Amino acid sequence: MFGSYRRAVAATSDVTIRRVRADEGLRLKQLRLSALLDTPSAFGRTHAEESAYPDELWHDRATRAAEGGAGSITLVAETAAGDWVGLVGGYRPDGDDGAPELVSMWVAPDARGTGVASDLVETVADWARATGAHELHLWVTIGNDRAAALYRRCGFVELDDFQPLPSDPCKNEQRMRLDLSAG
Ligand SMILES: CC(C)(COP(=O)(O)OP(=O)(O)OC[C@H]1O[C@@H](n2cnc3c(N)ncnc32)[C@H](O)[C@@H]1OP(=O)(O)O)[C@@H](O)C(=O)NCCC(=O)NCCS
Repeated sequence: MFGSYRRAVAATSDVTIRRVRADEGLRLKQLRLSALLDTPSAFGRTHAEESAYPDELWHDRATRAAEGGAGSITLVAETAAGDWVGLVGGYRPDGDDGAPELVSMWVAPDARGTGVASDLVETVADWARATGAHELHLWVTIGNDRAAALYRRCGFVELDDFQPLPSDPCKNEQRMRLDLSAG
């Protein structure tokens, strides 16, 4: 039911948004570690933490992503040549009845400003809506103005809800919310 999201991304970029497949755990690991190295301040975990995860964890993550359930989703942006240029996830931190959260958002530097980012966000919103959710949440680091601008453009609004960034508690992050009934 939730497995067939495909968007024709920006006409010029020829990128497809698709679920990670069960046998792509190690490729997912590589992409995520690239994201953590590229922009450490954007994420709740550090490169050191996640590079120490056993390969089994990445295989499990890919297997769950491929199952297509309502609990979580992992999407990649793939070029026609098969390169991965973007990553995003969605999951329910409080279990099946909780509001879903958008996490792990990353677009490779060369693919920024092409529309890939919006398509990743909208595909997670499509998934959340299809699972019956009424809202989608995320956390963005204070000062990550580019990400906040993207999320606002996609319809998210800032909430009066802040917490320390788990990977660097000197920084704070702010919760944003998307009303799924509006789209
Ligand atoms: C955040 C990210 C996914 C956004 O993707 P993108 O392709 O760069 O986004 P877009 O270009 O579509 O949109 C970015 C918006 O920020 C604006 N922007 C660009 N540079 C900016 C800057 N330095 N400061 C503020 N806004 C900026 C753009 O004009 C655009 O806004 P607009 O549509 O209102 O004009 C991408 O930059 C990225 O992967 N960054 C590193 C990881 C990260 O920060 N992830 C977010 C975790 S919450």
